[in-house]
Amino acid sequence: MARINDHYLKLQAGYLFPEIGRRTRAFVDANGGEVIRLGIGDVTLPLAPAVVKALQDAAAEMGTAEGFHGYGPDNGYPFLTEPIREHDYGARGVEIATDEIFVSDGSKQDSGNIQEIFGVDCKIAVVDPVYPVYVDTNVMAGRTGTADARGFYDGILYLPATEANGFAPDPPDTAVDLAYLCSPNNPTGTVMSRAQLERWVTWANETGAVIVFDAAYDAFISDSAIPRSIYEIEGARTCAIEMRSFSKRAGFTGVRCAYTVVPKELEGTSASGDRVAIHDLWARRVATKFNGVPYVIQRAAAAVFAPDGRKQTQEQVAFYMENASRIRAGLGAAGFTVFGGENAPYIWMRTPDGLSSWDFFDRLLAETRVVGTPGSGFGPSGEGYFRISAFNSRENVDEAIARIGRAFGR
Ligand code: MLT
Repeated sequence: MARINDHYLKLQAGYLFPEIGRRTRAFVDANGGEVIRLGIGDVTLPLAPAVVKALQDAAAEMGTAEGFHGYGPDNGYPFLTEPIREHDYGARGVEIATDEIFVSDGSKQDSGNIQEIFGVDCKIAVVDPVYPVYVDTNVMAGRTGTADARGFYDGILYLPATEANGFAPDPPDTAVDLAYLCSPNNPTGTVMSRAQLERWVTWANETGAVIVFDAAYDAFISDSAIPRSIYEIEGARTCAIEMRSFSKRAGFTGVRCAYTVVPKELEGTSASGDRVAIHDLWARRVATKFNGVPYVIQRAAAAVFAPDGRKQTQEQVAFYMENASRIRAGLGAAGFTVFGGENAPYIWMRTPDGLSSWDFFDRLLAETRVVGTPGSGFGPSGEGYFRISAFNSRENVDEAIARIGRAFGR
C-alpha cells in the first residue's frame, strides 16, 4: 500500500468551513426550515454588470478564430497586470513591476502554496487567531509537531491577538523565517496601522524574516490613514510577499481570480548559504504547477478596473460595509462587546456568558437559526469569541441581528 503523508494526520478535525456546513446541514435536517448564514465569508450580491459583460464578450471572442486564446502568459495577461500595477499600486505611490505580479485563481491557494518554496525547517509565526490555511498548510508540509490539547502546534510561534493589543501583536523577540500577517484581518476584522506595519517591516529586514502579507480584504478599508498594501511601507520590498483577491472586492468567490506580488529584491538563502531571489522560485513554481487563470476570467477581473466596473464593485463593497456597520451597531446596542467591522467585512464579538465558541455556535443556531463562525476555529486564542460575516442581504442581516439581540442581548 502507498505510504501517505503522515503530517496530514496531525491536522485537527475537518477544515473549519466544511465543519460548519456539516453542523448546519445536520441542524436543518433535524429541524427543517431556513437558517441565516453569516458564517463563511461568501459574497451574495450578483456579479457587477460590467464584469458580466466582460465575461460574455470574452466568451464570444474565444469562439472566433482571431479571438481564441490557448495557454496564457505564466503570470497573467498584461491587460490585467497593467491595471493592477497602475490602480492598486501606482495610484498609491507604490512602484510594482508587472512581472512581479502573479495572477492566480485565489489567495487561499497562494497563501497555502507559498510555503512550498521555503525550507521545511523554516520556523513560522502566525497571529492567533488566524485564517486556518496558513497553519494547516505548514502542518501538511511537516513544519510542525502535533497539536496540544488547546490546539497549539509544536514548532509554530503563535502571537496572540488580544483585546489588549488591539488584535494586532507586535513582532516577536525570537527570530522566525516566515511570518503570516493579514490586514484587514480575517477573522478579527481589525486593521494594522501604518506604525504597526512599520515595526513589522523593520523587524523583518533586521532579522531576515519574510512576511507573507494577506491583503485579500484591502478594498474594505475606508480609513485613508490605513495602508492597503504592505509596500506602502518603506523597506517592504526586501521582506514581504503580498496577496490580494477579487473574491470579496468584486464578488469573485465563484469566479476565482487573485494575485500575489513577489518583489525581485526579496531574497532567501540556500543550504549552501547563497542568496536566492524568491521571485525566481515562485515564478518557477507557477510555471511548473499552474497553467494560469482562464482568459475570460482575467478579462472579467480587468473590468473591475474600468470606470464602470470600479464604480459598481465599489458599490458592492459599500453595501457589505453598511451591513457590517449595522451588525456592529446592533450587537453593541444589545450589550455585546464587538470589534472590527469598520474597515473589514467581519465583526468579532465576545461570546455572551463566557460560553465557549462552539457552544455559542450551537446555541445561536438552535435559538435564532443564525450561523456564525466560532472564534476557536481560527486558533486557540479565538476561544470565547465569535465571527459574524457581513456578506448577506440587508434583510437577512437585520433579521439575524434582531434575533441575536432578542435571544442573548441584555
Ligand atoms: C472566510 O470566511 O474566512 C473566507 O471566506 C474564507 C476564504 O476566503 O477562503
